Amino acid sequence: MSAIVALLALFCMAGCERPVSTVDGGVDAATPSPNATHAPASAAPGGTGAAKSPEPQPAAAIAHGGVGSPPERADGCRRAVDAALAKLAEKNDPLAAVVAGVKVLEDDPRFNAGTGSRVRIDGETVQMDAAVMDSGGRFGAVAVIEKVRHPVVVARAVMGTPHLLLAGDGATRFARSLGMPLYDPTTPEMRAATKEIQKRLQSAQPGLSIDWATFDWRARWNFAKTLKEAGLTEKVGSDTVGVAVRTANGRYAVALSTGGTAITLRGRVGDVPILGAGLFAGSHGAVAATGKGERFVEAGLSRWVHEQMAAGKDVEQAAERGVARIRGNGSIGLIVIGADRMVAVADRKMAWAGREQGSKSWLGPQPSK
Ligand code: GLY
Repeated sequence: MSAIVALLALFCMAGCERPVSTVDGGVDAATPSPNATHAPASAAPGGTGAAKSPEPQPAAAIAHGGVGSPPERADGCRRAVDAALAKLAEKNDPLAAVVAGVKVLEDDPRFNAGTGSRVRIDGETVQMDAAVMDSGGRFGAVAVIEKVRHPVVVARAVMGTPHLLLAGDGATRFARSLGMPLYDPTTPEMRAATKEIQKRLQSAQPGLSIDWATFDWRARWNFAKTLKEAGLTEKVGSDTVGVAVRTANGRYAVALSTGGTAITLRGRVGDVPILGAGLFAGSHGAVAATGKGERFVEAGLSRWVHEQMAAGKDVEQAAERGVARIRGNGSIGLIVIGADRMVAVADRKMAWAGREQGSKSWLGPQPSK
């Protein structure tokens, strides 16, 4: 079976949930809604007005556990979707909903965000990024934050400041000002994974990605521990987590959280806290990316995918185009929610789940529990 697996599903609304195929990971797909006619009334960034979106359908949420995450972990994504939909039912606030969903994933040590974040190559540093955005254009993010349990909550709080993005020590101190206690997000599994990476880095043929194989990282070492003090593979693992929601009246929000990649210098910032790179929400829907962040920043990927929808592509076409744009240059997964559908597309396995408010039907791979 090919190592490259595309995951795809469309979510049609009432009356059109019709599975037409199952591909690797047990992903169900269904046909597009036939009742695509009107755009949401609200104007929002990224919407060019070039095409009208279908009429908004009932509230819905979709979550992913990061490209590379085992599909059987979709139970975690389902819990995130349930939390997001419960919050929408309580408050009809899409930002509160995506934060509630991502918190669940940050607390699940099987995913690379919050508890369970990757440990850097010095064997001890954990630096996390998170961001939130809604279709009203509001955005907040944190980068390289340390020692907090829920980076996504801090990112949401940044929206209450004059800033869009707080980084490093400033972000961590900001979290303390919110009353968030010191928290160690490392897990024994992630410490062990970094030990493996350190072994590989020291081996004669470490098998690094091309950008690291050609980079003299020893000369640019910037961790507090010296190279000698750090014991020293890119063990295959998962990436960012993300949740995107649609309200019944056609508003959207999206949130991401990540422990980043393992083999990086201290202070590296990926796509997650960069508006339009890892995430974007506009009048046509919301987009969340997972994978090799540097490539998404270069491509302005999530905003570009939203522009595809604004130009008349449906969510499936837009997501497939987004994946095609990156494929071959690093791992890539996308979840996209629009007015009447939601979809997950990736170039390899990925745990994810989606559900419409009030529906018992799940989209995505079958979880193991
Ligand atoms: N996509 C997560 C990162 O590159 O940090």
